[in-house]
Amino acid sequence: MADAVSPTAAAEEEKVDGVAEEEVVNPWEVSGKIDYDKLIDKFGCQRLDDSLIDRVRRLTSVPPHVFLRRGVFFAHRDFNDILDAYEKGDKFYLYTGRGPSSEALHLGHLIPFMFTKYLQDAFKVPLVIQLTDDEKCMWKNLTVEESQRLARENAKDIIACGFDVSRTFIFSDFDYVGGAFYKNMVKVAKCVTYNKVVGIFGFTGEDHIGKVSFPPVQAVPSFPSSFPHLFTGKENLRCLIPCAIDQDPYFRMTRDVAPRIGYHKPALIESLFFPALQGENGKMSASDPNSAIYVTDSPKEIKDKINKYAFTGGQDTKEKQRLYGANLEVDIPVKYLSFFLDDDEELEHIKKEYGSGRMLTFDVKKRLIEVLTELVERHRRARAAVTDEMVDAFMAVRPLPNMFN
Ligand code: TRP
Repeated sequence: MADAVSPTAAAEEEKVDGVAEEEVVNPWEVSGKIDYDKLIDKFGCQRLDDSLIDRVRRLTSVPPHVFLRRGVFFAHRDFNDILDAYEKGDKFYLYTGRGPSSEALHLGHLIPFMFTKYLQDAFKVPLVIQLTDDEKCMWKNLTVEESQRLARENAKDIIACGFDVSRTFIFSDFDYVGGAFYKNMVKVAKCVTYNKVVGIFGFTGEDHIGKVSFPPVQAVPSFPSSFPHLFTGKENLRCLIPCAIDQDPYFRMTRDVAPRIGYHKPALIESLFFPALQGENGKMSASDPNSAIYVTDSPKEIKDKINKYAFTGGQDTKEKQRLYGANLEVDIPVKYLSFFLDDDEELEHIKKEYGSGRMLTFDVKKRLIEVLTELVERHRRARAAVTDEMVDAFMAVRPLPNMFN
């Protein structure tokens, strides 16, 4: 997910005037109040409905992940085609990635990886993870060396999500781009005019040419022939990409080009953005550590941040809360619980009691603090157990002989 960028001065002025801040969603900026229905129309993807979720349940024989049941992954492109093929016995592979722009990940960054881990286990399929150190070097003005260092650090957090090394290949663009991967990049680049990338990504004449030439790098992991050590003889394998919906522009371009160079279009399954502590309109900004919970936060930091900053829909006195109840639509503790509290019954119970005023904000926050402290502690332990040798093992260019078992 792109790190949300701070609003421009103009946008901030608009807010003061009471005019709704304009929605911005692209791979480098997410801001404003997002209307997800409109986004689906604008991008031209499809809503992920209950019948698809039921199909996933039937085909995998495991309960669908919370993120599916609760609509965190809410949109898709051709996911039904992947399931049709899978039903007939044709496997697929998963592709996701991360732009390593910061040392510490926040909870929002973990969402695509937690979900991808579930998909890998449920469908028993191989996975490639792209670390776009080149992208962040160009967009965030990091040195080549610093981007590469961050890529390896982030790889540890990704591995800590529990991926299976016998089915997972993690690669850094700086190390892996070349050979068959590069040939596919050139094939893609030849199909995309300058006007087209400007239309999709909004580049201007002042942007350096590194940015203009980057999209093929993120496009080609969608094609199995970019990974000869994994997929030689399986060039027809389909690809499914779990990602946050801000990455959609890259894959709109990829899907447009794919049939022209003789490849399948990749399918996508896309998530909402994880809201900032300050509320749905807020931005989780890398420059404001109080806008998000980080996987490196201590139990005390988690507690303090939630108590101090989590925007609530509860009333400001006990008496009023008992009378009127909380507005769950805007309440961040309830939103966060709906991402991370597994137990459907408990969540329903909290919503009912809190919404009607029988439960107080304090108690909901207390439960959230428990849930997130446990999640972050579990992640911390898992990450501490990831050694440099393990990173090397995941990143080695090697065949994965049992990747479909
Ligand atoms: N551009 C993404 C980011 O900045 C990283 C990325 C590369 C990615 N390939 C991907 C994300 C595929 C999702 C799916 O985080």
